[in-house]
Amino acid sequence: MNKIITIRSPGTTANLGVLFDSGAMAINELYTDVTFSPNDSDTIITVSGYGKNIIPTNEKNVAYQAIKEYEIKTGISLPCFSLHIDNNIPFKGGLGSSAASIIGALVAINEYYNHQLSNEELLSIALKIEKHGDNLLACLLGGFTLFQPNILVNHSIPCELQAVITIPTYHISTYYSRKDLPPNYSKEDAVEALQNAALMTYAILKSDYSIFSTIIENDVIHIPYREKYQKTYREVKLFAKQHQSLGTTISGSGAAIISFVLKSKRQKLFDKLSKTFSDCEVIPISFNNRGATQIK
Ligand code: HSE
Repeated sequence: MNKIITIRSPGTTANLGVLFDSGAMAINELYTDVTFSPNDSDTIITVSGYGKNIIPTNEKNVAYQAIKEYEIKTGISLPCFSLHIDNNIPFKGGLGSSAASIIGALVAINEYYNHQLSNEELLSIALKIEKHGDNLLACLLGGFTLFQPNILVNHSIPCELQAVITIPTYHISTYYSRKDLPPNYSKEDAVEALQNAALMTYAILKSDYSIFSTIIENDVIHIPYREKYQKTYREVKLFAKQHQSLGTTISGSGAAIISFVLKSKRQKLFDKLSKTFSDCEVIPISFNNRGATQIK
């Protein structure tokens, strides 16, 4: 079989303010194309786009590791292969670039072997490489997803809900930013977090942007501990609110900042953010309801 398969996997924004480690959405404009093809002589990994000089091209590459885990899980003896990762997702920005590489590689190899594994099985392999499944699930399925390792659900996001992403010049390490979170939470915080999470889920499912806007900036689980170190987030949050954003939050653990906005108001918000935060990369986005998809 000399098939060449390219999977386009979307970037993702996790946490959605009050849905820490559970809620996420897939993004249309940011994506990674992962191309898999068998190779007679050697296994070769190449990378282009964001992070091309940083992303490893050896056995430390997460897409390569995912394919090796696929081999273990299925018992198939894989041929040598070429794997090309064309990354159009800002790297280490809290926009799911490594999840997109992992899912892209798994969906490609699963396509090559005629869908031997289910989405549940692909996700369980992906979780061996990346511990937090929120980005992985949104990348795999698309839409709005609620992560739980054994129950895969997604819901489509209407076109009227869009966003503007602001990427500061600083980087945040997910590993270290999780270390700043408290080991325990009070009963009051836990109850408030449950109330926020339940209402946010309701708001998204019902497209109730009034509740969405009231709740998104109310987190008590991670934002209060992370925002201390993310100056641009604090500034964008205040600024975007004055320019008709529905609310702003940190994307994943940061440093990307996502300001949700209705489609009709996105261009104006984008113009204002680009002008005021001119040292940042500012990207208008819409949401992706397809997840990782074969394009070749
Ligand atoms: N939910 C994770 C975190 C990041 O906020 O640390 C994305 O997996």
